[in-house]
Amino acid sequence: MTDEVVILAAGQGTRMRSRLPKVLHTLAGKPMLAHVVDAARELGADHIHVVVGHSAETVKNAFIDSGLKWALQEQQLGTGHAVNQAMPQVADDSRVLVVYGDVPLVKTTTLERLLKTCNQDTLALLTVEMDEPTGYGRIVRDADDSIVSIVEQKDASTEQLAITEVNTGILAVPAMKLKQWLPTLSSENAQGEYYLTDIIHMAVADEMHIVAQQPDDKWEVQGVNDRIQLSQLERHYQLEQARKLMREGATLADPARIDIRGRVTIGQDVFIDINCVLIGEVSIGDNVTIQPNCVIENTTIANNTIIKANTVLEQASVGEHCEVGPFARLRPGARLERHAKVGNYVEIKNSTMGEGSKANHLAYVGDAEVGSGSNIGAGTITCNYDGANKFKTTLGKNVFIGSNSTLVAPLTIADNGFVGAGSTITKDVPEQNLAIARGQQKNISGWQRPKKNS
Ligand code: UD1
Ligand code: CA
Repeated sequence: MTDEVVILAAGQGTRMRSRLPKVLHTLAGKPMLAHVVDAARELGADHIHVVVGHSAETVKNAFIDSGLKWALQEQQLGTGHAVNQAMPQVADDSRVLVVYGDVPLVKTTTLERLLKTCNQDTLALLTVEMDEPTGYGRIVRDADDSIVSIVEQKDASTEQLAITEVNTGILAVPAMKLKQWLPTLSSENAQGEYYLTDIIHMAVADEMHIVAQQPDDKWEVQGVNDRIQLSQLERHYQLEQARKLMREGATLADPARIDIRGRVTIGQDVFIDINCVLIGEVSIGDNVTIQPNCVIENTTIANNTIIKANTVLEQASVGEHCEVGPFARLRPGARLERHAKVGNYVEIKNSTMGEGSKANHLAYVGDAEVGSGSNIGAGTITCNYDGANKFKTTLGKNVFIGSNSTLVAPLTIADNGFVGAGSTITKDVPEQNLAIARGQQKNISGWQRPKKNS
């Protein structure tokens, strides 16, 4: 018996008021549909089918080479009709788990429990108690508390409308049964749709067991119809991520003011101040402090380092005991070895700063290799680009670059080389040499300042 997941994603999502298909709107930086696909993958499903309709091509293009199986529902005739579009590709002897592409936070553990409960003669249904059940399908039970049907809001009697146990839409059914039932659905109901929910009374008629399970957390089954609901799920998700970091040993100045859009691994005794955004794969060691307003993307930060306020790190690697910022920018390929310091208004790209080396203020270091103990003065620029090609700058150990120097690559300044402030260096500097390349100063005595014409 194989397990197959059918994700419904054909609906238009009118209330998003967007050109982007609803399921491509992101939660924590990732399309809602990708959250559901990932949960299905974690489940170890043999096949994952996605039913698309509105903007089908756009949705498919967002998941190129993903190994998903696509089914097209040209007209949105209802959830039962939607599932039926995937059935020709579903193996007869499989169990089918139906989920929605716009219910992004459902947990793999919940789906797993549901799927495991399903067998040849058991249908497993995920239901939830709602204080405010308006809009949802109600779970109708008989005197023995057995489920007999699901009735949609618009088809429900006043009595049924009072039921607070509702259908989440998520269920697990043997494929053979679906193949038998779905073609017989009728659209004679208040909405003129082929309701998936009508299979419940068919299952009852076939004497199947119907088992209802509940999610651990109500957020798991919350769907997104508009941007307000999306923002509520986003905040819930972010708070969960923040709590996870705190459980792992990080102090957060305010768990409501951190956003994680990716995966963060974190050491102990980390302090993260407010308004930081962590994106992609971020790894933070022990005793790291991150001051307010930092954006950290696909970056590794080793133990005992401090990232000061308003710093932006992207695809960078920061060693132990480093100091970065405030207002620093490390771009892709920036690598700081231990005890390096990068201060305000310094940009570093595709460069290594050796152990204990410093660029404390206002510099651009691109395509450079800086040895240990070197000091790059304020206003230093590596001229790494001639408009067509990029060139490398190599600085040895204990090199000193005076302020406002221009280093025209390709260039090598050997160990202990010293560059006088304001120099434009175009030729290599040998070890221990002092290089000065600037206009000579002339002092003119008795000079008179210009006066305003009267
Ligand atoms: C559905 C359930 C309802 C349940 C609710 C939970 C049915 C008949 N009703 O109602 O019992 O309480 O979900 O949110 O199943 N979709 C398609 N093609 C279609 C119709 C829908 O792909 O033709 C997709 C939508 O994109 C959406 C999902 O199915 O992701 C649910 O559709 P929606 O219209 O929101 O269902 P509800 O009427 O809310
Ligand atoms: Ca809905």
